Amino acid sequence: MRYTIQKLREGPGGRRFSPGIRLKLALFLLPLVFLLVVSVAVTVTRITDSAIRRDLLQRGVAISRVVAFSAGYSLLSEDRLALDSLTAETRNSASDIEFVAIRDTENIILAHSRVDERGKRYGSPDRSTSLGTFLETEAEEVSRDGRERIEFTTPILFAGKRVGTASIALSKESLLSAQRSVERSIAVAASVLLGIALLGTLVLASLITTPVKKLSRGVNELAGGEAFHPIPVSGGDELGELTRNFNRMAETILSQQNRLSKYANELEEAYVGMVRVIAASIDARDPYTAGHSARVAHISCKLGQRLGFPTEELEHLEKACLFHDVGKIRTPDDILLKKHSLSSPEFEEMRTHPDDGADILKVVPSLHRYIPVVRAHHEWYNGNGYPDGKRDSEIPIHAQIIALVDAFDAMTTTRPYRKGLSSGEAVKEILRFRGTQFSPMLTDAFVRMVEETPPAETGEWKGMAL
Ligand SMILES: [Fe+2]
Repeated sequence: MRYTIQKLREGPGGRRFSPGIRLKLALFLLPLVFLLVVSVAVTVTRITDSAIRRDLLQRGVAISRVVAFSAGYSLLSEDRLALDSLTAETRNSASDIEFVAIRDTENIILAHSRVDERGKRYGSPDRSTSLGTFLETEAEEVSRDGRERIEFTTPILFAGKRVGTASIALSKESLLSAQRSVERSIAVAASVLLGIALLGTLVLASLITTPVKKLSRGVNELAGGEAFHPIPVSGGDELGELTRNFNRMAETILSQQNRLSKYANELEEAYVGMVRVIAASIDARDPYTAGHSARVAHISCKLGQRLGFPTEELEHLEKACLFHDVGKIRTPDDILLKKHSLSSPEFEEMRTHPDDGADILKVVPSLHRYIPVVRAHHEWYNGNGYPDGKRDSEIPIHAQIIALVDAFDAMTTTRPYRKGLSSGEAVKEILRFRGTQFSPMLTDAFVRMVEETPPAETGEWKGMAL
């Protein structure tokens, strides 16, 4: 489970997931755009609803006043036909007019757009809410016979005296229908606007983040040491200027990096050359060990090849072999060249050369990788070696190879006080220390190599220089 959660947190390639700038920008802008569009839509809806309501009131007041003005004379002259005609024509003039009524001062209906209402008393509504009085016309929102209406009531005056009342009723459903229609239109417009705004936000986020992502890729290439490709400059704005400056900076860094790399290689080559000279000089201090380091390097690399070492590791092994006895530069001649066995103090002095070699290699950071091998080339497989008493796999394999080949070359080299052993005799000696001084696996591989290509026959192991 922990693995799964960790993988979820990490993106492709094991990187921890982190929302990009585009996502952050979108998450920041989208709610703002959404709130803005919704606020505008709500405000426009309210304004439009208010306008529709105001328009309805003005129309209702106007119709009611026209009916009241037209009904005055007919009411006094009791011209019922004219009043019927007035209510019917007014009712038919607009679809949202539900009824038109004219009543006397006793509230008895004299004329009505619905004929069956004539002669009845004009009843009070079940419920009413005043919407205000406009030029003597009172507007109310009423509920009558289970229907919601907006009723307008205007007094019928003649010579300043009230002779009756004109009432008209507008359907409230038409008001609500108009409002719903406008709200639908605004909702559609708001949705389209929101879609355009979302698209615009994504495009804006992309415009901002694309150059930043390109810069990020360039920085990764530069930091990862990959081949750097100059980033295309997309415009003359601040991001374009930043990209131009980054390309210039990257070119400068790469140029300096190449120069430094060249200097480092030259320095390393010079140092390796110097160490080769030192190694050869040390070997040359004793004419009988001349070429020892070069021979150890050659034989070790042949053994490394049989073990399947890649080219790069063989190069590493070769240099480690050349360096392995470089610490002997500090060993006095009277000890290094002594023809008889060493005294105990002299032997202790001789045992310091792996440490001395490590000190010399510390001078160049690029040669630090050889220090563990140089320091451990006199360790024994069973832990009885020096300077640290390391054993088995604690000893670098290159150091184990050098220990084996170093011993073989020393035994097969003729000295003034003893003749060198033959390769067969030397192999027997090495086999005696298989598993104590030398690694069993390396001993077996080395013995097989000597048996298959005896150095005495081929002559290739002696007198060569690398
Ligand atoms: Fe040594």
